Amino acid sequence: MASLQYIGHSAFYIQTENYGILIDPFISGNPKAVFDINKNKITDIFVTHAHSDHLGDAIPLSKALNAPVCAIFELANYCAQKGAYAQGINMGGKIKFPWGSAKFLPAFHSSATPEGTYAGMPASILFEINGVKIYHAGDTCLNSEMKTIGEIYKPDIALLPIGSTFTMDMDDAVIATQWLGVKQVIPMHYNTFDLIIADADSFKNKIEALGVKCTVLKPGEGINL
Ligand code: NI
Ligand code: MN
Repeated sequence: MASLQYIGHSAFYIQTENYGILIDPFISGNPKAVFDINKNKITDIFVTHAHSDHLGDAIPLSKALNAPVCAIFELANYCAQKGAYAQGINMGGKIKFPWGSAKFLPAFHSSATPEGTYAGMPASILFEINGVKIYHAGDTCLNSEMKTIGEIYKPDIALLPIGSTFTMDMDDAVIATQWLGVKQVIPMHYNTFDLIIADADSFKNKIEALGVKCTVLKPGEGINL
């Protein structure tokens, strides 16, 4: 029994029987985020890239909870320099955990630390938990790697950005859905601020026209896995 909760923006929380996985924990800096750090067990933290709307609270949470931050090598080193407990990984790397696995894959974007220093490549992450494969696309444009990911890794659920300006828009996310071959899509990275306004209901209609399930979650809402 596991669940996936939308915190807001690109932040998600996956809860399994004994573990709690935070992804892109932009929480204290996002007034729209819904998540109680004190009421949820956090054992692992993942960050797709170093931008502040993804790195978020990862470093202080790692320090406070002794939870590892798993990120691309350069970003992991940055987190370690700031006192976090960091686990470095790079493209194609897959790490096994007691709850499943996480594999780092490409995202087409940029990545720099809050101080403006190089933070390695931005990533997408494929999680496998209880046999369910969840693909968190990170911040990215539409890219043909998604065809390969669909063909080789066959994800079940995709978490896709739709807000445009800094990522793909909803029309490209519709194509991404087809290329990834997923059964279910959850939109993310929209309506957090003015530059990424998108109509999730319109996205849902476009996805459901493909015969794919689209679940629009409000911050704090979730699904069972
Ligand atoms: Ni970004
Ligand atoms: Mn972003």
